[in-house]
Amino acid sequence: MIAIGWVKVSVCFILSSLLVACTPVTPPHTEYDWKLPKGFPSPLVPEDNPMTTAKVVLGKTLFFDTDLSFNQSTSCASCHQPKFSFSEPKKTAVGSTGQKHRRNSQSLVNVAYNSNLTWAHSGLNTIEQQILIPMFSEDPIELGITGHENEVLLRFEKQHYAQLFKDAFEDSQASYDKIVKALASYVRSLTSFASPFDEYAYQNKDGAMTDAAKRGMELFFSEKFECFHCHGGFNFTQSSQHENQRLDLRPFHNTGLYNVDNMGAYPLSDQGLIEVTLQNTDMGKFRAPTLRNVEVSAPYMHDGSLATLDDVIEFYAAGGRGQGINNPLKSPFLTGFELQLAQKQDLIEFLQSLTDHQFLNSNLNYPPVSH
Ligand code: HEC
Ligand code: HEC
Repeated sequence: MIAIGWVKVSVCFILSSLLVACTPVTPPHTEYDWKLPKGFPSPLVPEDNPMTTAKVVLGKTLFFDTDLSFNQSTSCASCHQPKFSFSEPKKTAVGSTGQKHRRNSQSLVNVAYNSNLTWAHSGLNTIEQQILIPMFSEDPIELGITGHENEVLLRFEKQHYAQLFKDAFEDSQASYDKIVKALASYVRSLTSFASPFDEYAYQNKDGAMTDAAKRGMELFFSEKFECFHCHGGFNFTQSSQHENQRLDLRPFHNTGLYNVDNMGAYPLSDQGLIEVTLQNTDMGKFRAPTLRNVEVSAPYMHDGSLATLDDVIEFYAAGGRGQGINNPLKSPFLTGFELQLAQKQDLIEFLQSLTDHQFLNSNLNYPPVSH
């Protein structure tokens, strides 16, 4: 310690004797309080973007700011609205120019734990990579920054932003690298662990869940309903680690939503993972999404084609939809099951017990930035 201190001091001495400004070297502040319940692991964070409260604050301000779209009409929060668990009640998203996105806006909850980002991509593994898509994509246009890079960046040189950038990066100059890092930090900070299910399962509060929800939970984790195989783990999204199911280790599955040619094809507009991997067996495969806060993130599935949780459960009971039931690429877990009305109600009540109202309310009154 003394030796290191001495080196630092002597370097400072040499520099200052050359009349170069010398500020004491302070280690970057890397401690961040995730406020996780006891026993939950902290998410992994890229080495070049450690979590700090200052970055989360800047990221949050950017997330709600329509100045981030080229025509100042749209922010991240336009499609990811806090009260809908950062999704939106539209079938599919609409970008800043009105152009339609083919997919449903995903809810952003515990995204920090996702090893794959978006509905069907095996190569998008960090939030930093993913965020470049809504910012710069030209088809479909979301925020539409491409071609307007300087104009958009200039908006973030205003006084209140200069201070936020300085707090987060020790430098008040705005840059896209910093914007992406701050946005990713904010998205990572959106953790939710205070649902009635969490209280029941992890805090031993027996009364937190209703009896119906508890019955629904048993169905969810039963070999008959099979839900937990794909919606497993504390985020209800990892695929099963079942030793006999090596093929299903990845979190992507064909659930039999479509079968347009009776040979397993999904509509050309969206065929899922196959578009990325070019492997025929990946036709119609999508990532099993988290079920946290699923009560408020309707409509459902990658294309928003199921309107309610009732529809989703009927879909699973049938073992798919229409010709999709006979889709040869459908996961072997989706064989369908007999469903009594009371069971359906119990299962829905279980899914509702995954709603974390504290999480939904904590960002509701976020003041929009005034321009
Ligand atoms: C026009 C609506 C729209 C806007 C604006 C938008 N998103 Fe999204 N977001 C989506 C859609 C749709 C998806 C699913 C994309 C897919 O599967 O191809 C998505 C997916 C994501 C995901 C992946 C979540 C997961 O669990 O894998 C993250 C993270 C995300 N968006 C963050 C952002 C951030 C940050 C911004 C602002 C820079 C933003 N989004 C702007 C619609 C939008
Ligand atoms: C074989 C794996 C698998 C099984 C078993 C499974 N799911 Fe899913 N689930 C998925 C996939 C994949 C999606 C997304 C499909 C898509 O978008 O095309 C999904 C989507 C959902 C959604 C929509 C979530 C959203 O945000 O849009 C709900 C709700 C859901 N599943 C509940 C259940 C329930 C309840 C069960 C048990 C009856 C179940 N799942 C069984 C893989 C599975």
